[in-house]
Amino acid sequence: EMIHEISGLSNIEETLQKYLGINKVKVIPGDIESDNTVLKEMGRIAANYIKSLIEDNYIIAVTGGSSVAQVVENFPKINKNNLLVIPARGGIGRIVETQASTLASKLALRIGAGYKLLHVPDNLSRDALETMLNEPDIKDTVEKISKSNILIFGIGRADEMAKRRGLSDDEINELLQKGAVAEAFGCYFNKAGEIIYKTPTMTLDFEDVKNIEHIIAIAGGKSKAQAVEAVKTKNPNMVLVTDEGCALELLKLK
Ligand code: G3H
Repeated sequence: EMIHEISGLSNIEETLQKYLGINKVKVIPGDIESDNTVLKEMGRIAANYIKSLIEDNYIIAVTGGSSVAQVVENFPKINKNNLLVIPARGGIGRIVETQASTLASKLALRIGAGYKLLHVPDNLSRDALETMLNEPDIKDTVEKISKSNILIFGIGRADEMAKRRGLSDDEINELLQKGAVAEAFGCYFNKAGEIIYKTPTMTLDFEDVKNIEHIIAIAGGKSKAQAVEAVKTKNPNMVLVTDEGCALELLKLK
């Protein structure tokens, strides 16, 4: 806390909170892009904050990615009843370890919650997708996502995420030409924060996101500032946990 005050991070947090129009900003010293201990610390701080929000009977939805993975890895023990953890979306292709479903089950085990999985690959045909989304078990999970009390999500750069999701070069170029700068929970956003493309397995409606009580974004690194700025939902329920690298860059966009 001392270090926080001395380094002036509290001022930056307050300035960014007002600028982004959200509930709270927490800034961790350093930059995840130049020091990989910062990512862990960002996860730990986010996890402790999220722990303080959790009440009995809460439904917690998580996305995938390395930032949310650190929240899960560093989640403290908790003593609440009847918690449920669910993935906020389907799969993301290759890296199983950091997929939303994997992280949901890991977090559930850590906090003694129940969990549900959502194994819907990103690149299904429309027909196959429709069939899957009509499966009773999948339908049930999808309905629970919009009823969640806490959403924990990562924010990515549009170009990087499109590659990670295995989009073709043509598709990537089209997205970028349309002005995509950010990706979060399967939505691609332009600079103005408008959604310009939704992954078909994006089962969470943006309107639903707005109604979730606690929306916690975890994203750091200098190169993510533009993406984070675009996903600012101007949502009074949103909390951003970031690092100094991203925060200082965000101030420049102001
Ligand atoms: O949707 C965005 C990604 O979840 C961000 O992933 O935390 O690995 O950068 P990352």
